[in-house]
Amino acid sequence: PLSAPLAGPLSGKTALVTSGPTHEPIDPVRYIANRSSGKQGHAIAAALARLGANVTLVSGPVTIPDPAGVTVVRVETAREMLAASLAALPADIAVMAAAVADWRTADAADAKMKKDGSGRPPALALTENPDILATIGHHPDLRPTLVVGFAAETGNVAGYARDKLARKGADLICANDVSPEHGVFGGDANTLHLVGPDSMETWPTLSKVEVAERLAGVIAARLGE
Ligand code: CTP
Ligand code: CA
Repeated sequence: PLSAPLAGPLSGKTALVTSGPTHEPIDPVRYIANRSSGKQGHAIAAALARLGANVTLVSGPVTIPDPAGVTVVRVETAREMLAASLAALPADIAVMAAAVADWRTADAADAKMKKDGSGRPPALALTENPDILATIGHHPDLRPTLVVGFAAETGNVAGYARDKLARKGADLICANDVSPEHGVFGGDANTLHLVGPDSMETWPTLSKVEVAERLAGVIAARLGE
């Protein structure tokens, strides 16, 4: 059936999932964004719901439909995503699959910026966005039992994932190789390395829906331990 089961390995558990990009305004018509379709995060939210979890999906701007059986909170910016994520706590599980923009403009313009005819572009002053995963992974009293992050990397994928695990206070990092030849963005297939503090599994190339099913299974098994 398409609806969430009444009983499942995650029934009685709550989950927060972030998905999609964030948009950081430059002026009323322009923004800075990351590439993200939201397909992977949305599929994870749906898979956790199918196992019986009560899921809140905090989504940046995406064009894909809301998954069945989850509560969806729509946001635009990283700061809004942080606020909506904190509002979804306490939760047993957090899966941070959003592609959060690392920087926003220090001061978004209220009016559209116009070319001044000089041929010289404006300088954009940037400031760093809050790290939502690190905020939740290191939260003094609302840290979920299981915190899962993602890492889109090129090069030394597992090495960078280990660094992120520690820095962000996560239990697991799902690391995928986003070198252009692998075609993850907007595509349906994903080759993922599941990296823990002293473990690493490389999964076969799977569809994003299959990755979500498998990850939901790992999460259910961990919480059952
Ligand atoms: N993340 C987050 N908030 C941010 C940046 C990242 O919650 N401001 C989360 C992402 O959702 C992901 C994980 O952190 O789960 C790793 O994101 P990534 O962009 O790979 O990490 P960064 O710390 O931003 O490092 P990098 O310089 O490699 O972009
Ligand atoms: Ca980043």
